[in-house]
Amino acid sequence: MENAAHLDRTELLAALGSAARRFDIDLLIECDSSNTRLLERAEAGAPSGSVIVCERQTAGRGRRGRTWFSAPGDSLAFSLLWRFPERSQAPAALSLAVGLALARGLEHLGARGIQLKWPNDLQHAGRKLGGVLVELLPGDLRSAVIGVGLNLRLPASLPAEVAAIATGLDRALEAPRRETVLAALLAELASTLDRYAAGGFAVLRAEWLARHAHQNLPVRISGDGGEETGTCVGVDEDGALLLSSATGLRRIISGEVSLRQA
Ligand code: BTN
Repeated sequence: MENAAHLDRTELLAALGSAARRFDIDLLIECDSSNTRLLERAEAGAPSGSVIVCERQTAGRGRRGRTWFSAPGDSLAFSLLWRFPERSQAPAALSLAVGLALARGLEHLGARGIQLKWPNDLQHAGRKLGGVLVELLPGDLRSAVIGVGLNLRLPASLPAEVAAIATGLDRALEAPRRETVLAALLAELASTLDRYAAGGFAVLRAEWLARHAHQNLPVRISGDGGEETGTCVGVDEDGALLLSSATGLRRIISGEVSLRQA
């Protein structure tokens, strides 16, 4: 299988250091979708902190029913099961907390200019660097499978329309090693999810806004209910996007944000 190789587990665990005890990591060469596999294991009782890293996904899934393309060796595709304790915050704004954790993890490695596009895309220089697909377990809303796809380099095999709007981490960080990047992301996910469980998105909101790609910019929101335009003025404590529009302040809970010419 061209380019497909396991990550080096020893290097990964060494980079994780003491955070390694929080995770149970399975490295797969191929699967349909690491989210689909982990949802199955979660339903069968897998513990919080279970991780599936998949080198080649044959049916990688993105938000809103899209396909997620990733190339072995040039990207990271993994899923993390997180079970929130009882009485902790419900996962309403979980996907924003995850985006923040990923941005912080990359910053710890020295990456600069990482931004967040609501609800949870990672961007660099206005292009998509990574995406997050959070899926709650049916009937157990305190258990979430958090799927992360991140481009380390832009593979030549990407469809042209995807390559036109995507970028790779190698633009923000010199020669990123997948083991180091994965360890930084997992360690930061554990600490940010602990903070989220204890205090909700309210305690993370200022850090999220500091990285918001569209703060105070003219945007278009497109979704199932049509299109809305306005100025993006932030996010609420429950993760809703705040749009200042001709009809007043609107709270957006789903849709796609794109920059609009003023
Ligand atoms: C998006 O931006 O649309 C979200 C993309 C999420 C992709 C990741 S890759 C690992 C995990 N497994 C999947 O099938 N999807 C997520």
